[in-house]
Amino acid sequence: VDPRDGNRSPLRVALLGLGTVGKAVAQQLLDTAWRSGVAARGITPPELVAVGVRDPDRPRGLELPSAVRRTDALDDLVVDDGIDVVVELIGGLQPAGSLVGRALESGRHVVTGNKALLACEGHVLESAAREAGTALRFEASVAGGVPVLAPIVNDLAGNRIDAIRGIVNGTTNHILSAMAEDGRDYEDVLSEAQERGYAEADPSGDVEAWDAAYKLAILARLGFGEWPEATSLRRAAPAVVADAPAGITGVRTRELERAASLGLSIKLVARAERGRDGCSRASIMPVAVRGTSPLGSTGGVTNLVEVIAEPVGRVAFRGPGAGGRATSSAVLADLLAIARGEGSTWGPLPPAPSVTIPDDLDEEHSWFFVATSLVGAHTPPRLSEIALAADDEAFVTRPMALAAIRERLAPVDPSITIYPLLAEA
Ligand code: HSE
Repeated sequence: VDPRDGNRSPLRVALLGLGTVGKAVAQQLLDTAWRSGVAARGITPPELVAVGVRDPDRPRGLELPSAVRRTDALDDLVVDDGIDVVVELIGGLQPAGSLVGRALESGRHVVTGNKALLACEGHVLESAAREAGTALRFEASVAGGVPVLAPIVNDLAGNRIDAIRGIVNGTTNHILSAMAEDGRDYEDVLSEAQERGYAEADPSGDVEAWDAAYKLAILARLGFGEWPEATSLRRAAPAVVADAPAGITGVRTRELERAASLGLSIKLVARAERGRDGCSRASIMPVAVRGTSPLGSTGGVTNLVEVIAEPVGRVAFRGPGAGGRATSSAVLADLLAIARGEGSTWGPLPPAPSVTIPDDLDEEHSWFFVATSLVGAHTPPRLSEIALAADDEAFVTRPMALAAIRERLAPVDPSITIYPLLAEA
C-alpha cells in the first residue's frame, strides 16, 4: 500500500508511546463501536498494527489483541514496510525527533502531539515532510482536544490574521483557578494536576510556561507564516527589578485575591500578534484580564484560543486542553484526515522561516500590581496619581511605559511583579 493512497485501504498505524494520550488513542482504534462510527461517516477506519514502547512487557492496563505487534525496536518500526502512519506520542526531543525524521524521510506519514519537538525542530521536520511528499499532522500539540490548528489554516483562510491569544496550558490554568477560587496553595494543586494526567512528566515545563511557549510557536507558524524560536519568547511578567519568576511560579495567592477584589483575574496568556513595525511579537506571561471576559472566565483545565482576524473579527475555540481522552480526539482526527488524503496540518501554506521574536514590553500598557508593604501606610502620592483603580494593596495604573512604573515602584518594593493588563481581553 502506498501511504499516499488516500482512502482506499485501511491505514496501517504504528503507535509510539503508551502514556496518557497513547493509551487513549489505542483504546479508540481498537474499539468496535468507534470503528463502525467512523465507517458510517464514510472513512475506512485505520488499523492499529504495532505499538512501539521502551519496555513492551510493562503492564499498562490495556489489552492489546495478539495481532498488534509490541516492540521496543522503535528505529526499525518507523521504517517498516507494513506501516503507513507513525503516531508519535512519546514526547520530548529525543528519541522522538529522530524517529519522526526517519519515518518522514522513508515516506511514512506522521501524526504527533509533540509540541516541544515541533516548536524546536518544526522547520526541519516540515522540510523533510515536504521533500518526501508525506503528511505531518499535529493538531494534538495545541489545546489538547480543541480543534484550532486546522481551522486557522482552512476555515479562516480568507482572513488576514492580526492576533492569536489564549489560555493554552491546562495545568497552569487549573492551578491558578484553584488558587483563586479556593485559596489553595500552589504545591497542593500542582500534585492534583499531575495525578489527573494534565501535567507533563516534568511539571516545570508547564509551570515555567515552556509548554505554552511551544504551543504559541506552533500557532504563530500557522497564523503568521514564521516558526518563532521558542527560546526567544518572553515567559515572565516584569518585576520592578528585572523579571518575575518564569510562568506562574511567582504568582501568589494574595495577588489573585487582590486582583479579584478589583474585578480582575490573573491568567497565563499566550499572545502572538503583528507589531506596528511589521515584526511578529509573541509572549506567554501571567497577565491581568477582566474577570468576566472570555479569558478571565476560562477556568480549570479548559483552554481558550481567540483569533482576531479581518474580516471575521474575533472567533474563539474553547474546550478540554489536556487529558488522554480529550487529546486522543485530535490525534484520531489527524489520522482520519490522512485517510482522506488531506496532507499536512499547514495545508497549502508556503514554507516558513525560523525567526527570533523581539521582546514585546515596549508598548504602553496599563499595569496591575499588589504592594503588600503599603498596608496601613499612606499611599505615596506618586502611586495614587497613576491609579485607575485601587484598593488597600492593589493598583491598576493608567497606560504608561514600563520604565515609568518601575521608577515609581522602586522605593516601595523592588520585588513587586508588574502584571500587564489586557484591558480589551
Ligand atoms: N501539560 C499540558 C497542559 C498537556 O497542561 O496543557 C496538554 O498539552
